[in-house]
Amino acid sequence: MAIKKVGIVGCGLMGHGIAQVAAQAGMDVVVRETEQGALDKGLGRVSKSLAKLVEKEKIDQASADAAAARLTGTLELADLADCDLVVEAIIEDLAIKKALYAELGKICKPETILASNTSSFPVAEMGAASGRPERMVGLHFFNPVQLMKLVEVVRTPDTADDVFAEARSFGEAVGKVPVGASDTPGFIVNRLLVPYMAEAMRMVERGDATVEDVDTAMKLGCGYPMGPFTLTDYVGLDTTLSILQGWHERYPDDALLTPPKILEEKVAAGKLGRKTGEGFYDWKGDKRA
Ligand code: CAA
Repeated sequence: MAIKKVGIVGCGLMGHGIAQVAAQAGMDVVVRETEQGALDKGLGRVSKSLAKLVEKEKIDQASADAAAARLTGTLELADLADCDLVVEAIIEDLAIKKALYAELGKICKPETILASNTSSFPVAEMGAASGRPERMVGLHFFNPVQLMKLVEVVRTPDTADDVFAEARSFGEAVGKVPVGASDTPGFIVNRLLVPYMAEAMRMVERGDATVEDVDTAMKLGCGYPMGPFTLTDYVGLDTTLSILQGWHERYPDDALLTPPKILEEKVAAGKLGRKTGEGFYDWKGDKRA
């Protein structure tokens, strides 16, 4: 395994989890945020998650301490220059991502692999912005990263074979099962999952079923761990909406990819799900109220 030092850009919902699993796998990890408050919050989430894993006897205290010791925070992108792999997990805004990749392309050593945790944007466009498209892949993790076993490894037409292979190995090294996917909207999981969530919302908008009944139906009828509304609250209504908006702009004629009104209204009202305490349900911390 050639990847020994990993840089993570963004220490939010996904970034903190990716940083944590890499540190748990024995890699040195530098995580970069733009503000001290966000960095402290993200690193605090890692500490909380490690403590939970110890409490549940999934890992021992010594491994949790060792993982925490391998993880450092920074506000400077330049601190990621000598990383073997940089995983970006910042806001889903293509223009902001491209500007970041242009900077990373200049700062990082030539061998650095650049990876995006984007859920919905074309990875190739970020590779082009970096000036090293052959060293760019998608590494799409799932929420909560610490518990979900999958990572989608997305290759663009430009991704070099050794970069794709190395990215897959990284996925395995951090305890995930990698699946290969092409650089198409939503890759595998979100292309199926997000229209399903949107259809559930349209069903409720039409008055065909209640939020609670749709969730119960999909849990008990299909064996899913969460129904679509609990899951949307869990993922974030804003994230779900931004994925749909991006696709709708690119494919305006596809009705399945049109953002439902109920979702737009809740996001406009600041009801973003678990993280704001209210979405389709009320939340108290990580649990439904
Ligand atoms: N770190 C450590 N522990 C954590 C944790 C974390 N990040 N998150 C939760 N836990 C803990 C919980 O606190 C809980 O502890 P307690 O029992 O003490 O309360 C424990 O893990 C297990 O939780 P549950 O009892 O709820 O166990 P579960 O069997 O229901 O598993 C789950 C939880 C894995 C989240 C499961 O409910 C699940 O698989 N849900 C579906 C999640 C899903 O579909 N994710 C994909 C979202 S889509 C996405 O991410 C892509 C995108 O781009 C939008």
